Amino acid sequence: MLTLSIIKADTGGWVGHSAVHPDMIVPAAQAVRDAVARGLLVDGHVATCGDDLSLIMTHRHGVDAPVVHSFAWEVFLATTEVAKRLGLYGAGQDLLSDAFSGNLRGMGPGYAELEFTERPSEPVLCFLADKTEPGAWNLALYKMFADPFNTAGLVIDAKMHAGVVFEVYDLYEDKRIEFDCPRDLYEMLMFIGAPARYVIHSVRSKTLDEVAAATSTQRLSLIAGKYVGKDDPVMIVRCQSGLPAVGEVLEPFAFPYAVAGCMRGSHHAPFMPVSAGQAHPSRFDGPPRVMALGFQIKGGQLGMPRDMLADPSFDRARAQANEAMDYFRRHGPFEPHRLPLENLEYTTMRELEKRLADRWEPLLRPAATLAGAKT
Ligand code: F6R
Ligand code: MG
Ligand code: MG
Repeated sequence: MLTLSIIKADTGGWVGHSAVHPDMIVPAAQAVRDAVARGLLVDGHVATCGDDLSLIMTHRHGVDAPVVHSFAWEVFLATTEVAKRLGLYGAGQDLLSDAFSGNLRGMGPGYAELEFTERPSEPVLCFLADKTEPGAWNLALYKMFADPFNTAGLVIDAKMHAGVVFEVYDLYEDKRIEFDCPRDLYEMLMFIGAPARYVIHSVRSKTLDEVAAATSTQRLSLIAGKYVGKDDPVMIVRCQSGLPAVGEVLEPFAFPYAVAGCMRGSHHAPFMPVSAGQAHPSRFDGPPRVMALGFQIKGGQLGMPRDMLADPSFDRARAQANEAMDYFRRHGPFEPHRLPLENLEYTTMRELEKRLADRWEPLLRPAATLAGAKT
């Protein structure tokens, strides 16, 4: 069995929250090379999306492995040191704890992990996002694995007819549920259509009995109890031979649907598909970005990544995203650009409620007002 892990963290931004400084990538890449040399990892690749640094790693330790998680933690401590030295913005912002204790759950960094038996040819897409939240993958995963208007294979490939099982997490209540689709499609949509709370964690093909996709489902704000930056999720999707084809996995991103997360974690904005070179959100800390690195894994080796969303066939989606961004921006501080109050991660409202408490007066009904006027 092989495990593919993407572990990511924002340990400092260059400039503001827009990118990772090249000097942070150097020690991370060196640490990965060393880990491969001493046999901890089979292979590894360092990638960045916005101000988030991702370690894309193959290994034989399984998911949630303390040796792999502690390795990533050490790398993030090292990149935090660089960020501090260079005065980069928000140095160490995703490292919520001082001490590592076994695995990264609740520690701040996000991770998506998949354990599988490598097929003779193993095409895998690693998606990295910035300025959004884990639920941002819900719409795309639904389209890839459940919508025949997106995925022709659901109709044409007999191996896909039995459907898939979506595993969904309730991030507020720390619970999970499995939806057997297509049977449970409509019920599932009621939940995953609210991506701030319900997040698809994994997808399994019923015919192949293989896990096909995994996402990072951590929410920093829920872990930390206050706003500490967006979670900027990652996702792994295995493709082809009874799973959605590479083109079917990428197709949902041809529509720049709205996601939560840009500017102070408080706004909806279009999810813009970009090449790795364009994954540096600068307008209103956005629009949120998604990039995809494609790997053809062999013997655990990742090989050279392909920058899948660099394709000009996504140019129109980028143009649409820019138009949608203009449209959202003109709402200024109004919903639906601004998130509904219950999802707002900044605590301004709580503070305001306290500060203005004395100035709120009860509304009096007309009769009561008249009665009051007589006395
Ligand atoms: C951070 C982010 C940004 C910041 C914003 C304000 O992940 O998405 O939108 O929230 O730049 O940052 P502060 O409050 O640090 O000045
Ligand atoms: Mg940041
Ligand atoms: Mg980020």
